[in-house]
Amino acid sequence: MFDLKNYLNHKSRVVNDTLENILLSTQQGETINKALKYSLMAGGKRIRPILCLAATEAVDGNPKDALMAACALEMIHTYSLIHDDLPAMDDDKLRRGKPTCHVAFDEATAILAGDALLTMAFEILASVPFENNGQAAKWLQVIRIIAIAAGSRGMIQGQMLDIASEGRRLNVSDLESMHTLKTGALIEASLQCGALLAEADKAQLGFLKTYARNIGLAFQVADDILNVEGNPEVMGKAVGTDKLNKKSTYPSLLGLDASKQFAQKLIHQALQALETFDNKAEPLRAMATYIIERKR
Ligand code: IPE
Ligand code: IPE
Ligand code: MG
Ligand code: MG
Repeated sequence: MFDLKNYLNHKSRVVNDTLENILLSTQQGETINKALKYSLMAGGKRIRPILCLAATEAVDGNPKDALMAACALEMIHTYSLIHDDLPAMDDDKLRRGKPTCHVAFDEATAILAGDALLTMAFEILASVPFENNGQAAKWLQVIRIIAIAAGSRGMIQGQMLDIASEGRRLNVSDLESMHTLKTGALIEASLQCGALLAEADKAQLGFLKTYARNIGLAFQVADDILNVEGNPEVMGKAVGTDKLNKKSTYPSLLGLDASKQFAQKLIHQALQALETFDNKAEPLRAMATYIIERKR
């Protein structure tokens, strides 16, 4: 039987080693470097890079070919968390089991560390050594997909909606759009990039997109549920904060039980989308279930 724990451990190690090397080769100022490393290497689950690598494997590609895209996605995700935790946004003090970047350093350094991670992500994407024009074209496509997902048509718009909705009660359809943008967009980009770099065909890309849409939304529904009933020590971040900040969330609109059922339905749909894939998609299948069963 497929051993997900082992798979996640192995893939995290590969991603962490590559990120360490990238940080070593891009060192500049001492403080900004410390701040970058502090947040990037604080022990995130590495879900986005692992989904990217697993998508490559699902369409019979070599995960090594997607490693830089995977690392860029994690850098962008980490930047989004540093900024998400700032006093002007969620004002959180704990992240990945450690004081948030602006608490450990200061606000200006945290803003700049986020900026630097976002920029560095595109530097490493543009630095991939490719051998032919076909590969160059693929990497340009990857850069574009990631830029759109992370930008004002994707994650940034999701974060804008999240902040604007504080203290207001969204309807379920607006909540779904917000979650799809703020969390789903980068997750979808992760799968799309992994698959593209392995020359996935149109049908495979379509199925992976459906898978990604469903697990992307489920991921944020699970995050909302954990914010109500999770264990802060296991999660490495505070709980109860959505209620405190008057955020619209799935539990606040539907209640906990209906939110869990909804997340399960999404995962069922994600798994259905993988039906035509062979056992190389086992990691993606196992990750879909993990996304709603996780405790952190
Ligand atoms: C947390 O993401 C923020 C959301 C988008 C829900 P993760 O749960 O992937 O956080 P890390 O990377 O493991 O810290
Ligand atoms: C974070 O969403 C989403 C992004 C950073 C894009 P949340 O604010 O809901 O996540 P946590 O609970 O702080 O990790
Ligand atoms: Mg937030
Ligand atoms: Mg937050």
